[in-house]
Amino acid sequence: MMRQLELTLVPRPHPALFPSTRYQGSKRKLLPWIASHLRELRFDTALDAMSGTAAVAYLLKQMGKQVVANDRLFANAEIARALIENPGERLCEEDIEKAMQPRPGVLYSRFIEETFAGIYFTDEENRWLDVVAQNLSRLRHPYRRALLRFALFQSCLAKRPYNLFHRKNLDLRLREVKRGFGNKAAWDRPFPDHFRGFAREANAAVFDNSRENRALCGDALEAPGRFDLVYLDPPYLRRDGSGADYPGFYHFLEGICDYSRWSERLDRASPHLRLKPEPDPWLNASQARPAFRRLIERFAESILVVSFRSDGIPAEEEIAAMLRDAGKKVKVLRQAPRPYALSRNRDSCELLFVAK
Ligand SMILES: C[S@@+](CC[C@H](N)C(=O)[O-])C[C@H]1O[C@@H](n2cnc3c(N)ncnc32)[C@H](O)[C@@H]1O
Repeated sequence: MMRQLELTLVPRPHPALFPSTRYQGSKRKLLPWIASHLRELRFDTALDAMSGTAAVAYLLKQMGKQVVANDRLFANAEIARALIENPGERLCEEDIEKAMQPRPGVLYSRFIEETFAGIYFTDEENRWLDVVAQNLSRLRHPYRRALLRFALFQSCLAKRPYNLFHRKNLDLRLREVKRGFGNKAAWDRPFPDHFRGFAREANAAVFDNSRENRALCGDALEAPGRFDLVYLDPPYLRRDGSGADYPGFYHFLEGICDYSRWSERLDRASPHLRLKPEPDPWLNASQARPAFRRLIERFAESILVVSFRSDGIPAEEEIAAMLRDAGKKVKVLRQAPRPYALSRNRDSCELLFVAK
């Protein structure tokens, strides 16, 4: 009887589905596991401080919380605007088709075609990207623009080897060799097909949880406000010292969002024409440890929930000690590695620190 009463008092999470994504480090597949632990905590406001695809912010929104999603990459803030901040705006078929058509009377720049020839996409694909990127930059409506950009980002990732922009490797995609993996079909699928499919997925994910949720772009340390709970999912630095260089992986999507200034932001010395790098403490061990500690101290008054991997830097015990130093009681939960996971290190598992 008691159990039945509890079940009726806990609001059911909203059933909408978070869209598919190929973003490195996305927690999308871990959401049920993370949800099972978040459900045990009492909180009303939450910050996803390094939100990436906003998958965890989305889970928090589904749980009825007031959510702020923040990421240093503008493209990720756009995704959060589409799926977290957006209270209910959806695209119609006409929005999707119009985004792909050159507008009569507009003189389009051919910046992508001229600058990135032979690097990431074919000339024809680059011409399509030039048109769509400029059409979206002109759109006034922030939520429709963000939904269309979400579709554009996912389309770009689906057509890239490794789903990244870390290397000039268009030839890998175009080479006529027999392949033992299934990405070729996604690479060959035309941009408009991907775009329509992802736009529909984004549309289906839009919902209103009757709270004022926000998307921010900036350094997690500077995210303004106080929150009952803060979720931290920082870039993962492997024991061998190699880190996840998010600006280096996704610079092309940042450029799409800043089309008119893209040329001046390019690092022309890099072979794959990334954006000029900015300081990033998550790329080496000596800076990542203090960066982790600063984050924990900044949000020490909140319940802290931290994702990391067991074979990363800092190590599990170091993170737990940082949380205890901040006055927290710490529980460490682990998700056993899947035996079929294509991980370089099969002993590595996903950790979730819950610190109250
Ligand atoms: C592991 S990913 C987060 C994945 C996310 N939880 C998801 O499910 O998609 C780490 C994120 O941290 C962001 N990031 C890196 N440095 C940051 C900083 N100083 N402030 C805010 N975000 C940062 C990266 O852009 C990246 O999206």
